Amino acid sequence: MRGNFFHPGDSGRTGRRVLLAVLVVAVLSAIYGASSLWGAAAATIGSVLLLAVCVGAVARSVRQLGDRSTALDDRTASLAATAEAAAAARPLLADDVGALRGDVTALRGDVTALHGDVTVVRGDVGALRGEQYIGFSRRLDQETEAELCSVWSERLGVTLEPPYLRYLERKLLQIEAAVAGRLASHMYDGLLRAVVARSVTGREFNGLEIGVLFGISAMVILEAVGPFFERAHMTLIDPFEGYYAPDELDPMTRLPVSRRLLQRNLDRLGVPPEQYTVIQGYSADDAVGRQVSGRTFNFVLIDGDHSFEGVTADFERYAPMIQPRGYLVLDDYGAPEWPGVTRFVEEVLSASPLFECVGTASRTAVFRRI
Ligand SMILES: C[S@@+](CC[C@H](N)C(=O)[O-])C[C@H]1O[C@@H](n2cnc3c(N)ncnc32)[C@H](O)[C@@H]1O
Repeated sequence: MRGNFFHPGDSGRTGRRVLLAVLVVAVLSAIYGASSLWGAAAATIGSVLLLAVCVGAVARSVRQLGDRSTALDDRTASLAATAEAAAAARPLLADDVGALRGDVTALRGDVTALHGDVTVVRGDVGALRGEQYIGFSRRLDQETEAELCSVWSERLGVTLEPPYLRYLERKLLQIEAAVAGRLASHMYDGLLRAVVARSVTGREFNGLEIGVLFGISAMVILEAVGPFFERAHMTLIDPFEGYYAPDELDPMTRLPVSRRLLQRNLDRLGVPPEQYTVIQGYSADDAVGRQVSGRTFNFVLIDGDHSFEGVTADFERYAPMIQPRGYLVLDDYGAPEWPGVTRFVEEVLSASPLFECVGTASRTAVFRRI
């Protein structure tokens, strides 16, 4: 073991030699007696032997110290070389770190630019889908799709899968593109109404929509339920005299809200007349009430007068016409611009013993008649 001053093997050997010399002195002393001449000679020989052993041990230690010192010198030289190399590498490393920092800054710039591109593409897609005049989102994002497939499938007791939802999404866009006007809600709300309508049980679908606007919501619902029922029918109630005021144009498309435009849309899409009944007037009018008395529905969408009093009046008049297990759907629930709808849902509808809440999403509240 080079360079190690304390060497257990050497120390053991030295100890044994010292012990042997002491033993020789003791034996010779015992044999010849310390007082005799022989005894003195023996003691002297023993002492010389002991001294020789000690000198040998000291010489070995000195040699080991020398080895250790050489090793330390080597190590010091090696450390000095390493320090020198590190000092030489330092500026190079500083350059590399500087370059890496520059790369990170450039990458950050690229990511920001990509975000900008994505925003532009989203805007373009939205524009192609008409979002700029519709005022609502026309995208079915993956989160919404997943929510419809999992949460709403279970709530409604129907199997909703991504391809079917994408199919309905496309139908909604096609219907909206084919006729005049717009659906006055988000894609999510439009699809949710459609899948709620499609999950009605029974052979016949009987829907009522209060607040029809251009009829696009009704046409999407009829499109969605058509393949699943022997007969599908929608009753459509709206004064058709302007957007919440006589002759007021739709604020987004600047089109008139009129019976003539609704009929034009229904005809353009080729909806068979036996699939709808249009009742022109305010839902709270007795004349309108008389035209629907005696009918029952398994789907009612309230989207007309959005004041608390207006929604409550619609509920009181039309909710008793909903069959057991039929659905009551409210648009604009939670929309800050229509606080009356939210108040009605939370204070009146939620407290009704006749209805259970199925769920809410986006701007839609869905209840089921018990
Ligand atoms: C928000 S839009 C309906 C949008 C339509 N449901 C859709 O999703 O595209 C409101 C409609 O309610 C109608 N309306 C307003 N007050 C009404 C009332 N008391 N009874 C029936 N319809 C009413 C308006 O004429 C307007 O066409």
